[in-house]
Amino acid sequence: MKGIILAGGSGSRLYPLTLTTNKQLLPIYDKPMIYYSLDLFLSQGIEDICLITSPQHIKDFEKISYTLKDIFSINLIVQDQPKGIAESFLLSEEFIKGNKVMLVLGDTFIHGKIPPPKNTGATIYAKKVKNPNEYGVVEFYNGKAISIEEKPESPKSHYAVPGIYFYDEMALEYAKQIKPSARGELEITDINKQYLEKDQLHTIELDNSIVWLDAGTYDSLFEASEYVRDHQSKTSNCIGLNLKKVHE
Ligand code: TTP
Repeated sequence: MKGIILAGGSGSRLYPLTLTTNKQLLPIYDKPMIYYSLDLFLSQGIEDICLITSPQHIKDFEKISYTLKDIFSINLIVQDQPKGIAESFLLSEEFIKGNKVMLVLGDTFIHGKIPPPKNTGATIYAKKVKNPNEYGVVEFYNGKAISIEEKPESPKSHYAVPGIYFYDEMALEYAKQIKPSARGELEITDINKQYLEKDQLHTIELDNSIVWLDAGTYDSLFEASEYVRDHQSKTSNCIGLNLKKVHE
């Protein structure tokens, strides 16, 4: 299985923090945000990944991939404009062709062991939240999605879809078929809908033992930093990539 991590975007909700810096390089306590999302690949034994970012930040990520070269083999790809998460399949076509893929959004903070994905189709996760309308929202039963919607005004459930997804080899073909949404983006939800139509969208609930934060807002960024500091000082366990191993 190959990995794709998305580290572009405009980061408008974190403006002006993202005026000169890429969102995924902002600190969560003692590490850049991307050290947490990259660690999710290691938990699945994936070292061969493709990192997609915007032209103005590619140099920073060259430095990051060089720093992490003993842990990951990172292929860097530029996304000219933030034209949507699903564009990542098209941009990385040569890299993922014929492979299963784990896709991670670079602003995903998850602490805890996520249940393994299913072997077939696609697997997404569902986390109960108070404000589902700010996320992709999934309605599911018996481990299968029934509906999935992107930032709906009237959500059909309280379950948000965190930025970690598993796909079989078909994802690339589906990405070629979808059209930009009303907001002009190739939506990951539209890829997921293709799997849903074939009853192949497995959905696994993340229970309370797993902490998930989308670190894309001031509050969640702050909350994530506090969480890491508290956890690391209480347990002396490192969250995210282990700094001693990376930088020794
Ligand atoms: P979002 O949080 O949806 O978008 P954003 O990062 O541009 O932030 P904002 O909404 O505040 O403007 O993006 C989710 C993740 O996906 C984030 O890690 C950035 C990444 N992304 C890309 O790399 N390319 C894209 O085209 C989009 C839409 C997002």
